[in-house]
Amino acid sequence: MDSPEKNRVGASVIVPTYCEAENLPSLIAQVADAFNARGWQWEVIVVDDNSPDGTAEVLPALAKNYPQVRFLIRKEDRGLSSAVLAGFALARFDYLVVMDADLSHPPEMAPALVEPLVAKQADFVIGSRNVAGGRTESWGIFRWLNSAVATALSRPFVGQVRDSMAGFFALRRELLATCDALNPIGYKIGLELIVKGRVRWIVEIPIVFRNRIRGKSKLTLAEQFRYLEHLSRLYDYQFPRGSPRVKFLIVCVCGALVSLGAVALLVKVGHTGFLPALAMGLSAMILVTLLFFVRYVRTQRDFIRMKRPYLEFFLISVAEWCTGLLVGWAVHHVCGILWSVLLALGGLVVVRYVLRKIFLHDVRGIRGERLAEGRAAEAKETTPSVLGSS
Ligand code: GDD
Ligand code: MN
Repeated sequence: MDSPEKNRVGASVIVPTYCEAENLPSLIAQVADAFNARGWQWEVIVVDDNSPDGTAEVLPALAKNYPQVRFLIRKEDRGLSSAVLAGFALARFDYLVVMDADLSHPPEMAPALVEPLVAKQADFVIGSRNVAGGRTESWGIFRWLNSAVATALSRPFVGQVRDSMAGFFALRRELLATCDALNPIGYKIGLELIVKGRVRWIVEIPIVFRNRIRGKSKLTLAEQFRYLEHLSRLYDYQFPRGSPRVKFLIVCVCGALVSLGAVALLVKVGHTGFLPALAMGLSAMILVTLLFFVRYVRTQRDFIRMKRPYLEFFLISVAEWCTGLLVGWAVHHVCGILWSVLLALGGLVVVRYVLRKIFLHDVRGIRGERLAEGRAAEAKETTPSVLGSS
Protein backbone atom coordinates (compact mmCIF):
# COMPACT_ATOMS: atom_id res chain seq x y z
CA MET A 1 0.00 0.00 0.00
CA ASP A 2 1.16 3.53 -0.73
CA SER A 3 2.26 5.51 2.26
CA PRO A 4 0.56 8.87 2.77
CA GLU A 5 4.01 10.47 2.32
CA LYS A 6 4.16 9.00 -1.13
CA ASN A 7 0.79 10.39 -2.12
CA ARG A 8 1.55 13.89 -0.96
CA VAL A 9 2.39 16.38 -3.66
CA GLY A 10 6.05 17.35 -3.61
CA ALA A 11 7.65 20.32 -5.31
CA SER A 12 11.28 21.28 -5.80
CA VAL A 13 11.74 25.02 -6.10
CA ILE A 14 14.89 25.95 -7.99
CA VAL A 15 16.27 29.39 -7.24
CA PRO A 16 19.29 30.61 -9.20
CA THR A 17 21.12 33.36 -7.35
CA TYR A 18 23.84 35.83 -7.95
CA CYS A 19 24.25 38.36 -5.14
CA GLU A 20 20.90 37.82 -3.49
CA ALA A 21 22.05 37.36 0.12
CA GLU A 22 19.67 40.08 1.29
CA ASN A 23 16.65 38.54 -0.42
CA LEU A 24 17.09 34.86 0.40
CA PRO A 25 15.82 34.77 4.01
CA SER A 26 12.57 36.44 3.12
CA LEU A 27 12.13 34.38 -0.04
CA ILE A 28 12.57 31.11 1.77
CA ALA A 29 10.26 32.05 4.59
CA GLN A 30 7.53 32.92 2.10
CA VAL A 31 8.00 29.79 0.02
CA ALA A 32 7.87 27.71 3.18
CA ASP A 33 4.61 29.36 4.26
CA ALA A 34 3.04 28.87 0.86
CA PHE A 35 3.75 25.14 0.66
CA ASN A 36 3.21 24.37 4.33
CA ALA A 37 -0.21 26.01 4.13
CA ARG A 38 -1.20 23.34 1.60
CA GLY A 39 0.44 20.49 3.46
CA TRP A 40 2.65 19.72 0.49
CA GLN A 41 6.18 18.43 0.58
CA TRP A 42 8.67 20.90 -0.74
CA GLU A 43 12.31 21.77 -0.99
CA VAL A 44 14.25 24.80 -2.17
CA ILE A 45 17.44 24.32 -4.11
CA VAL A 46 19.50 27.47 -4.32
CA VAL A 47 22.13 27.45 -7.04
CA ASP A 48 24.58 30.24 -6.43
CA ASP A 49 27.51 31.18 -8.60
CA ASN A 50 29.90 32.01 -5.82
CA SER A 51 28.40 35.43 -5.21
CA PRO A 52 30.79 37.91 -3.64
CA ASP A 53 28.05 39.38 -1.42
CA GLY A 54 28.18 36.86 1.40
CA THR A 55 25.54 34.46 0.04
CA ALA A 56 27.80 31.57 1.01
CA GLU A 57 27.54 32.63 4.65
CA VAL A 58 23.78 33.12 4.59
CA LEU A 59 22.96 29.77 2.98
CA PRO A 60 24.23 27.36 5.66
CA ALA A 61 22.27 29.25 8.32
CA LEU A 62 19.12 29.05 6.22
CA ALA A 63 19.64 25.37 5.54
CA LYS A 64 19.96 24.86 9.28
CA ASN A 65 16.65 26.58 9.97
CA TYR A 66 14.87 24.85 7.13
CA PRO A 67 15.83 21.22 6.50
CA GLN A 68 14.06 21.58 3.15
CA VAL A 69 16.70 23.99 1.91
CA ARG A 70 19.72 22.76 0.00
CA PHE A 71 22.23 24.74 -1.93
CA LEU A 72 24.90 24.36 -4.55
CA ILE A 73 27.69 26.86 -4.85
CA ARG A 74 29.31 26.70 -8.25
CA LYS A 75 32.84 27.97 -8.34
CA GLU A 76 33.50 27.98 -12.06
CA ASP A 77 30.27 28.04 -14.01
CA ARG A 78 28.25 31.19 -14.28
CA GLY A 79 24.87 31.81 -15.80
CA LEU A 80 21.23 31.72 -14.92
CA SER A 81 20.13 28.96 -17.30
CA SER A 82 22.91 26.54 -16.48
CA ALA A 83 22.28 27.21 -12.78
CA VAL A 84 18.65 26.18 -13.24
CA LEU A 85 19.71 22.96 -14.97
CA ALA A 86 22.16 22.23 -12.18
CA GLY A 87 19.28 22.69 -9.74
CA PHE A 88 17.06 20.31 -11.71
CA ALA A 89 19.72 17.65 -11.44
CA LEU A 90 19.50 17.81 -7.64
CA ALA A 91 15.72 17.96 -7.38
CA ARG A 92 14.01 15.18 -5.45
CA PHE A 93 10.34 15.81 -6.16
CA ASP A 94 8.17 15.26 -9.22
CA TYR A 95 7.22 18.88 -9.73
CA LEU A 96 9.75 21.56 -10.47
CA VAL A 97 9.29 25.27 -9.98
CA VAL A 98 11.80 27.89 -11.11
CA MET A 99 11.77 31.37 -9.65
CA ASP A 100 13.93 34.42 -9.13
CA ALA A 101 15.33 35.15 -5.69
CA ASP A 102 14.61 38.86 -5.70
CA LEU A 103 10.92 38.51 -4.76
CA SER A 104 9.83 39.80 -8.16
CA HIS A 105 7.92 36.55 -8.48
CA PRO A 106 5.33 36.29 -5.70
CA PRO A 107 6.43 33.25 -3.65
CA GLU A 108 2.87 32.68 -2.44
CA MET A 109 1.94 31.82 -6.05
CA ALA A 110 4.44 28.96 -6.35
CA PRO A 111 1.95 26.23 -5.34
CA ALA A 112 -0.64 27.66 -7.74
CA LEU A 113 1.79 27.04 -10.58
CA VAL A 114 2.07 23.39 -9.59
CA GLU A 115 -1.68 22.79 -9.31
CA PRO A 116 -2.49 22.49 -13.04
CA LEU A 117 0.36 19.97 -13.36
CA VAL A 118 -0.98 17.87 -10.52
CA ALA A 119 -4.49 18.04 -11.97
CA LYS A 120 -3.05 17.01 -15.36
CA GLN A 121 -4.37 20.18 -16.91
CA ALA A 122 -1.05 21.35 -18.30
CA ASP A 123 2.46 20.23 -19.17
CA PHE A 124 4.03 23.59 -18.44
CA VAL A 125 2.76 26.43 -16.28
CA ILE A 126 3.90 30.02 -16.52
CA GLY A 127 3.52 32.73 -13.89
CA SER A 128 2.47 35.28 -16.45
CA ARG A 129 2.52 39.05 -16.46
CA ASN A 130 0.65 39.34 -19.70
CA VAL A 131 -2.68 37.62 -19.11
CA ALA A 132 -5.77 39.17 -17.50
CA GLY A 133 -5.04 39.84 -13.85
CA GLY A 134 -1.27 39.80 -14.34
CA ARG A 135 0.95 42.82 -14.73
CA THR A 136 4.31 44.34 -14.04
CA GLU A 137 4.70 46.93 -11.36
CA SER A 138 5.70 50.29 -12.85
CA TRP A 139 8.16 49.28 -15.51
CA GLY A 140 9.88 52.01 -17.48
CA ILE A 141 9.01 52.33 -21.14
CA PHE A 142 12.42 50.93 -22.12
CA ARG A 143 12.09 47.73 -20.16
CA TRP A 144 8.52 47.30 -21.32
CA LEU A 145 9.42 47.77 -24.98
CA ASN A 146 12.37 45.50 -24.59
CA SER A 147 10.22 42.75 -23.14
CA ALA A 148 7.57 43.23 -25.86
CA VAL A 149 10.11 42.87 -28.68
CA ALA A 150 11.77 39.89 -27.02
CA THR A 151 8.39 38.22 -26.63
CA ALA A 152 7.40 38.94 -30.24
CA LEU A 153 10.59 37.31 -31.52
CA SER A 154 9.71 34.12 -29.66
CA ARG A 155 6.26 33.88 -31.27
CA PRO A 156 7.22 31.25 -33.88
CA PHE A 157 7.96 28.84 -31.03
CA VAL A 158 5.24 29.48 -28.52
CA GLY A 159 2.26 30.58 -30.57
CA GLN A 160 -0.33 32.15 -28.33
CA VAL A 161 1.70 32.14 -25.12
CA ARG A 162 1.69 35.68 -23.77
CA ASP A 163 4.67 35.63 -21.43
CA SER A 164 7.28 33.38 -22.99
CA MET A 165 10.06 35.39 -21.33
CA ALA A 166 8.96 34.47 -17.84
CA GLY A 167 11.49 33.24 -15.31
CA PHE A 168 8.69 31.91 -13.09
CA PHE A 169 7.39 28.57 -14.30
CA ALA A 170 6.66 24.98 -13.33
CA LEU A 171 6.92 21.61 -15.04
CA ARG A 172 6.93 17.92 -14.30
CA ARG A 173 10.37 16.50 -13.77
CA GLU A 174 9.66 13.79 -16.32
CA LEU A 175 9.57 16.43 -19.06
CA LEU A 176 13.35 16.76 -18.74
CA ALA A 177 13.89 13.18 -19.82
CA THR A 178 12.05 13.78 -23.09
CA CYS A 179 13.76 17.08 -23.94
CA ASP A 180 16.31 17.27 -26.71
CA ALA A 181 19.79 18.40 -25.61
CA LEU A 182 19.35 21.64 -23.73
CA ASN A 183 21.60 24.53 -24.49
CA PRO A 184 21.74 26.67 -21.40
CA ILE A 185 22.71 29.98 -22.90
CA GLY A 186 21.48 33.25 -21.40
CA TYR A 187 18.35 33.91 -19.37
CA LYS A 188 15.49 32.23 -21.17
CA ILE A 189 15.67 28.70 -19.88
CA GLY A 190 11.85 28.55 -19.82
CA LEU A 191 11.68 29.17 -23.55
CA GLU A 192 14.44 26.62 -24.13
CA LEU A 193 12.47 23.99 -22.22
CA ILE A 194 9.25 24.73 -24.10
CA VAL A 195 10.98 24.41 -27.48
CA LYS A 196 13.27 21.45 -26.78
CA GLY A 197 10.58 19.63 -24.81
CA ARG A 198 8.11 20.26 -27.65
CA VAL A 199 5.63 21.41 -25.05
CA ARG A 200 2.18 22.16 -26.41
CA TRP A 201 -0.01 22.32 -23.37
CA ILE A 202 0.92 25.54 -21.63
CA VAL A 203 -1.17 27.28 -19.01
CA GLU A 204 -0.53 30.84 -17.89
CA ILE A 205 -1.45 31.95 -14.41
CA PRO A 206 -1.56 35.69 -13.77
CA ILE A 207 1.04 37.15 -11.44
CA VAL A 208 2.09 40.63 -10.49
CA PHE A 209 5.79 41.01 -11.22
CA ARG A 210 7.10 43.19 -8.40
CA ASN A 211 10.10 45.43 -8.68
CA ARG A 212 13.00 44.16 -6.67
CA ILE A 213 13.58 46.10 -3.48
CA ARG A 214 17.06 44.87 -2.55
CA GLY A 215 20.06 44.20 -4.76
CA LYS A 216 20.15 44.89 -8.45
CA SER A 217 19.24 43.21 -11.73
CA LYS A 218 21.92 41.29 -13.61
CA LEU A 219 20.16 41.62 -16.93
CA THR A 220 22.85 43.47 -18.85
CA LEU A 221 23.02 44.57 -22.46
CA ALA A 222 25.37 41.67 -23.15
CA GLU A 223 22.65 39.41 -21.80
CA GLN A 224 20.14 40.86 -24.29
CA PHE A 225 22.49 40.08 -27.16
CA ARG A 226 22.87 36.60 -25.78
CA TYR A 227 19.11 36.26 -26.11
CA LEU A 228 19.38 37.05 -29.83
CA GLU A 229 22.00 34.35 -30.06
CA HIS A 230 19.76 31.96 -28.19
CA LEU A 231 16.86 32.79 -30.51
CA SER A 232 19.06 32.23 -33.53
CA ARG A 233 19.90 28.74 -32.27
CA LEU A 234 16.29 27.98 -31.47
CA TYR A 235 15.25 29.03 -34.98
CA ASP A 236 17.89 26.69 -36.38
CA TYR A 237 16.63 23.91 -34.16
CA GLN A 238 12.97 24.38 -34.91
CA PHE A 239 13.30 25.26 -38.60
CA PRO A 240 16.51 23.48 -39.63
CA ARG A 241 15.96 24.10 -43.32
CA GLY A 242 14.29 27.49 -43.39
CA SER A 243 16.22 29.30 -40.69
CA PRO A 244 19.75 29.11 -42.18
CA ARG A 245 18.36 30.14 -45.53
CA VAL A 246 16.56 33.14 -44.12
CA LYS A 247 19.74 34.14 -42.30
CA PHE A 248 21.71 33.71 -45.51
CA LEU A 249 19.22 36.00 -47.22
CA ILE A 250 19.42 38.61 -44.47
CA VAL A 251 23.21 38.70 -44.68
CA CYS A 252 23.11 38.95 -48.48
CA VAL A 253 20.59 41.79 -48.42
CA CYS A 254 22.64 43.72 -45.84
CA GLY A 255 25.80 43.22 -47.88
CA ALA A 256 24.10 44.13 -51.15
CA LEU A 257 22.76 47.38 -49.72
CA VAL A 258 26.21 48.42 -48.52
CA SER A 259 27.70 47.35 -51.83
CA LEU A 260 25.17 49.36 -53.87
CA GLY A 261 25.82 52.38 -51.69
CA ALA A 262 29.57 52.03 -52.12
CA VAL A 263 29.36 51.76 -55.91
CA ALA A 264 26.98 54.71 -56.16
CA LEU A 265 29.26 56.83 -53.99
CA LEU A 266 32.39 55.91 -55.90
CA VAL A 267 30.89 56.48 -59.32
CA LYS A 268 29.38 59.78 -58.25
CA VAL A 269 32.17 61.40 -56.29
CA GLY A 270 35.09 59.07 -56.68
CA HIS A 271 35.76 59.79 -60.35
CA THR A 272 36.51 56.14 -60.80
CA GLY A 273 35.44 54.05 -63.74
CA PHE A 274 32.66 51.55 -63.30
CA LEU A 275 34.80 48.44 -62.94
CA PRO A 276 37.04 49.76 -60.13
CA ALA A 277 33.90 50.98 -58.36
CA LEU A 278 32.30 47.56 -58.78
CA ALA A 279 35.46 45.87 -57.47
CA MET A 280 35.27 48.02 -54.33
CA GLY A 281 31.53 47.45 -54.00
CA LEU A 282 31.95 43.67 -54.14
CA SER A 283 34.70 43.92 -51.55
CA ALA A 284 32.36 45.90 -49.32
CA MET A 285 29.74 43.17 -49.57
CA ILE A 286 32.28 40.53 -48.64
CA LEU A 287 33.44 42.64 -45.72
CA VAL A 288 29.91 42.90 -44.36
CA THR A 289 29.58 39.14 -44.71
CA LEU A 290 32.84 38.67 -42.86
CA LEU A 291 31.42 40.56 -39.88
CA PHE A 292 28.48 38.16 -39.69
CA PHE A 293 30.79 35.23 -40.29
CA VAL A 294 33.10 36.12 -37.41
CA ARG A 295 30.09 36.22 -35.10
CA TYR A 296 28.86 32.93 -36.54
CA VAL A 297 32.17 31.18 -36.00
CA ARG A 298 32.62 32.56 -32.51
CA THR A 299 29.17 31.66 -31.27
CA GLN A 300 28.66 28.37 -33.09
CA ARG A 301 32.18 27.02 -32.60
CA ASP A 302 30.86 23.94 -30.91
CA PHE A 303 28.64 23.02 -33.82
CA ILE A 304 30.84 23.88 -36.78
CA ARG A 305 32.54 21.03 -38.56
CA MET A 306 34.96 22.94 -40.76
CA LYS A 307 38.53 22.84 -39.61
CA ARG A 308 39.76 26.18 -40.94
CA PRO A 309 36.62 28.29 -41.28
CA TYR A 310 38.44 31.49 -42.15
CA LEU A 311 40.54 29.92 -44.87
CA GLU A 312 37.45 28.40 -46.42
CA PHE A 313 35.66 31.69 -46.14
CA PHE A 314 38.55 33.46 -47.82
CA LEU A 315 38.69 31.05 -50.76
CA ILE A 316 34.95 31.21 -51.29
CA SER A 317 35.12 35.00 -51.12
CA VAL A 318 37.76 35.10 -53.85
CA ALA A 319 35.50 33.01 -56.08
CA GLU A 320 32.55 35.28 -55.28
CA TRP A 321 34.53 38.41 -56.01
CA CYS A 322 35.87 37.14 -59.35
CA THR A 323 32.42 35.97 -60.45
CA GLY A 324 30.83 39.29 -59.53
CA LEU A 325 33.47 41.24 -61.41
CA LEU A 326 33.26 38.97 -64.44
CA VAL A 327 29.48 39.29 -64.63
CA GLY A 328 29.68 43.07 -64.17
CA TRP A 329 32.32 43.37 -66.84
CA ALA A 330 30.35 41.20 -69.26
CA VAL A 331 27.14 43.15 -68.97
CA HIS A 332 28.12 46.74 -68.28
CA HIS A 333 28.22 47.76 -71.93
CA VAL A 334 24.68 46.61 -72.56
CA CYS A 335 22.98 47.30 -69.21
CA GLY A 336 22.96 50.46 -67.16
CA ILE A 337 25.17 50.75 -64.10
CA LEU A 338 22.43 49.76 -61.67
CA TRP A 339 21.56 46.59 -63.57
CA SER A 340 25.19 45.69 -63.98
CA VAL A 341 25.77 45.95 -60.25
CA LEU A 342 22.62 43.99 -59.46
CA LEU A 343 23.57 41.23 -61.88
CA ALA A 344 27.11 41.16 -60.52
CA LEU A 345 25.75 40.82 -57.00
CA GLY A 346 23.38 38.14 -58.20
CA GLY A 347 26.28 36.17 -59.65
CA LEU A 348 28.18 36.58 -56.41
CA VAL A 349 25.24 35.30 -54.36
CA VAL A 350 24.76 32.22 -56.54
CA VAL A 351 28.42 31.28 -56.20
CA ARG A 352 28.25 31.96 -52.49
CA TYR A 353 25.17 29.81 -52.03
CA VAL A 354 26.56 26.87 -53.94
CA LEU A 355 30.05 26.95 -52.43
CA ARG A 356 28.90 27.55 -48.88
CA LYS A 357 26.45 24.74 -49.18
CA ILE A 358 29.25 22.46 -50.33
CA PHE A 359 32.06 23.60 -48.07
CA LEU A 360 30.63 25.34 -45.06
CA HIS A 361 27.26 23.58 -44.75
CA ASP A 362 25.97 26.71 -43.12
CA VAL A 363 23.03 27.19 -45.43
CA ARG A 364 21.77 23.75 -44.52
CA GLY A 365 21.49 24.32 -40.84
CA ILE A 366 23.16 22.87 -37.85
CA ARG A 367 23.08 19.14 -38.11
CA GLY A 368 26.35 18.48 -36.38
CA GLU A 369 26.47 16.96 -32.95
CA ARG A 370 27.65 19.30 -30.35
CA LEU A 371 31.37 18.76 -30.65
CA ALA A 372 32.12 20.24 -27.28
CA GLU A 373 29.79 17.89 -25.44
CA GLY A 374 32.67 15.62 -24.51
CA ARG A 375 34.84 18.57 -23.59
CA ALA A 376 32.12 20.03 -21.39
CA ALA A 377 31.66 16.71 -19.60
CA GLU A 378 35.39 16.56 -18.92
CA ALA A 379 35.35 20.07 -17.51
CA LYS A 380 32.45 19.13 -15.21
CA GLU A 381 34.54 16.51 -13.47
CA THR A 382 37.11 19.05 -12.45
CA THR A 383 34.68 21.83 -11.50
CA PRO A 384 34.80 22.42 -7.79
CA SER A 385 31.37 23.13 -6.33
CA VAL A 386 30.01 23.00 -2.86
CA LEU A 387 26.87 21.10 -2.13
CA GLY A 388 25.24 21.95 1.13
CA SER A 389 22.26 21.01 3.23
CA SER A 390 21.50 20.85 6.88
N1 GDD B 1 23.21 31.31 -10.41
C1 GDD B 1 23.03 32.43 -11.13
N2 GDD B 1 23.99 32.79 -12.04
N3 GDD B 1 21.93 33.17 -10.93
C2 GDD B 1 21.78 34.29 -11.66
C3 GDD B 1 22.72 34.72 -12.60
C4 GDD B 1 23.89 33.92 -12.80
O1 GDD B 1 24.77 34.19 -13.61
N4 GDD B 1 22.27 35.88 -13.14
C5 GDD B 1 21.11 36.15 -12.54
N5 GDD B 1 20.82 35.21 -11.63
C6 GDD B 1 19.63 35.13 -10.77
C7 GDD B 1 19.37 36.37 -9.95
O2 GDD B 1 20.08 36.36 -8.74
C8 GDD B 1 17.88 36.28 -9.75
O3 GDD B 1 17.54 35.42 -8.70
C9 GDD B 1 17.39 35.70 -11.06
O4 GDD B 1 18.49 34.99 -11.60
C10 GDD B 1 16.90 36.76 -12.05
O5 GDD B 1 17.92 37.73 -12.21
P1 GDD B 1 17.60 39.29 -12.32
O6 GDD B 1 18.87 39.96 -12.58
O7 GDD B 1 16.77 39.75 -11.16
O8 GDD B 1 16.75 39.29 -13.66
P2 GDD B 1 15.64 40.28 -14.12
O9 GDD B 1 14.71 40.67 -13.03
O10 GDD B 1 16.24 41.38 -14.89
O11 GDD B 1 14.86 39.33 -15.16
C11 GDD B 1 13.76 38.56 -14.75
O12 GDD B 1 12.65 38.91 -15.49
C12 GDD B 1 12.73 38.60 -16.88
C13 GDD B 1 11.47 39.01 -17.55
O13 GDD B 1 11.42 40.35 -17.67
C14 GDD B 1 14.07 37.06 -14.93
O14 GDD B 1 13.03 36.33 -14.33
C15 GDD B 1 14.18 36.67 -16.36
O15 GDD B 1 14.30 35.26 -16.47
C16 GDD B 1 12.94 37.12 -17.07
O16 GDD B 1 13.05 36.85 -18.44
MN1 MN C 1 14.81 40.54 -11.04
